[in-house]
Amino acid sequence: MKKTVIIYGSTTGNAAKAAETIAAKLGGGDVKEVSSAKKSDLADYDNIILGSSTWGDGELQDDWFGFISEVKSANLSGKTVAVFGVGDQFSYSDTYVNAMGELYEAAKSAGAKIVGETSTDGYSFSESSAVKDGKFVGLALDYDNQDQLSESRIEAWTAQIIPEL
Ligand SMILES: Cc1cc2nc3c(=O)[nH]c(=O)nc-3n(C[C@H](O)[C@H](O)[C@H](O)COP(=O)(O)O)c2cc1C
Repeated sequence: MKKTVIIYGSTTGNAAKAAETIAAKLGGGDVKEVSSAKKSDLADYDNIILGSSTWGDGELQDDWFGFISEVKSANLSGKTVAVFGVGDQFSYSDTYVNAMGELYEAAKSAGAKIVGETSTDGYSFSESSAVKDGKFVGLALDYDNQDQLSESRIEAWTAQIIPEL
């Protein structure tokens, strides 16, 4: 069994950058674009980190459309999942990082243990389906408005999840 895989979808490169930075801060892990991910990737790893930017009206990044059903139908019981989302909290204030909420729901319905929830402090948006019980279900990033915070947010989040992986 391999340890950690990071599977992401990204259109202009922001979620890709986040995925690479997360891997670097974790000190390892395989990074895969979701367009080339396989169902076996979900079976082969103990820890799975899923990430997406949000597009359209609060939707998953396009490349996720073929693979999200594989996540939902996988058996992820016994596996640990963490999710991250990239969005723009000012221009899309009522759908901020909604895609992360979808990744969370998919992994949850597949039976995974989900780790890595974070505080909404320091963000300014009106609504997000990635917020449950007042917290983000994973790591929320905003390269459009808070680029300078992204690395420190990733650093804090990876430090938070490493003991759980
Ligand atoms: C047409 C369009 C729609 C978008 N819709 C949303 C949205 O609903 N929610 C959100 O948080 N961000 C939204 N965004 C912002 C992107 O998610 C953001 O720019 C992100 O950094 C892109 O990441 P990527 O390069 O990994 O695809 C949208 C951007 C564009 C151009």
